[in-house]
Amino acid sequence: METLPDTVDGPRGGTWYEFGEILDFLNFVFRSSVGRKPSIGGDYPHLYNERNVHNFRHIRVNGRVISNVSIYPARVQWGDAVLKIGGIGGVATDPDYRKHGYAGTILAHCLEYMDRELDCDLSILWTGIPDYYRRWGWEHAGQNWTFFIDRTTITYLPVAPTGEVLTDTLDPRVIQAVESLHAARRAGVVRDRELTEVLLNIRTRVRCAVLMDGETPVAYIVYSPGEQIDVKDCGGDGSAVLGLLRVVFAQCGARTAQIHTPAQDQSVAPLFIERGFAVRANYSGMLAVLKPQRILEAYGIRDVTVRPEGDGWQIQTSTASVFLRKPDLVKLLFGPERPPEIGHSKLPLPFYYGQLDHM
Ligand SMILES: CC(C)(COP(=O)(O)OP(=O)(O)OC[C@H]1O[C@@H](n2cnc3c(N)ncnc32)[C@H](O)[C@@H]1OP(=O)(O)O)[C@@H](O)C(=O)NCCC(=O)NCCS
Repeated sequence: METLPDTVDGPRGGTWYEFGEILDFLNFVFRSSVGRKPSIGGDYPHLYNERNVHNFRHIRVNGRVISNVSIYPARVQWGDAVLKIGGIGGVATDPDYRKHGYAGTILAHCLEYMDRELDCDLSILWTGIPDYYRRWGWEHAGQNWTFFIDRTTITYLPVAPTGEVLTDTLDPRVIQAVESLHAARRAGVVRDRELTEVLLNIRTRVRCAVLMDGETPVAYIVYSPGEQIDVKDCGGDGSAVLGLLRVVFAQCGARTAQIHTPAQDQSVAPLFIERGFAVRANYSGMLAVLKPQRILEAYGIRDVTVRPEGDGWQIQTSTASVFLRKPDLVKLLFGPERPPEIGHSKLPLPFYYGQLDHM
């Protein structure tokens, strides 16, 4: 019997009436098919909300959603430098349709879409299969630090200054404290009130503790509780942040804790380092560079010229002119490793994308 050819629709963005179907598809691939609860909407509510459905770039075959890549458009800050970034999540293909190039087709489409439609400077993703993404131009880059604390070393941290500790994430003072102290840090994803509320109150398995001095917020931590506390976000006075961690550690009866900071953090990292805690460094994620010249300008670098050439970029500094492949340009800009051919005193650029904003 002759079979009809498949009808392929996409890659394209979702419409509001497709939201539920795409979310079901992602919950199937990432959760229920591997024996987990279908929690993806609550796990990443900043990404999976109806208002962002046009950025769920997907393909239907014979009417069914069979492959998807979700984009989270955000702004990411380091001091005065603010970049437009496209976070990538939910890269998934129906098991019956894998290894036919569907996810690859959508990823290539997403790079184009983030560049042209969303006007992004760069893209970020986190994955256990880096080689798959390398072929599209994403490369491990940037550096984050993590500090580990256990039942012995928790007592080496400073004690929290006296003050009221607020923990109700519906309390407007808590939301306001996290929003304002995060903004004052000027590092990581730029958040408004609504995004702060979503991350504190819709995102699953997240708790918060805020230390107040009267009406003034001093410090906060946002963490996932349990035997192993994971501090996903913090802000305010470094010493008070660690004091809050001590309080929460005792309340949870925790065995260990970890806290993530930007590399070269000036707030809590020096307090760990002076106490002899080891820095554990990781990549910030896999980055793809879309608009290198604009990135350099955002960081105030004006003596490097970058123009597209073939499958890479031609870089010109006052002392050198070289061709770099896409992954090497990512390393030149964000490191931490440096391509040997070319360098600049202000490169690699400092960069931070915090755990709470992950997807
Ligand atoms: C990872 C995943 C999204 C890939 O989806 P996919 O649609 O199969 O992706 P592609 O077809 O573009 O590429 C997959 C492989 O098929 C190969 N391929 C692509 N087209 C092909 C074709 N026509 N014939 C044979 N192989 C092909 C690719 O080269 C790639 O090979 P690799 O094993 O060397 O990486 C899919 O396996 C999946 O949903 N996995 C579970 C969820 C997950 O882990 N997502 C990633 C989270 S970061």
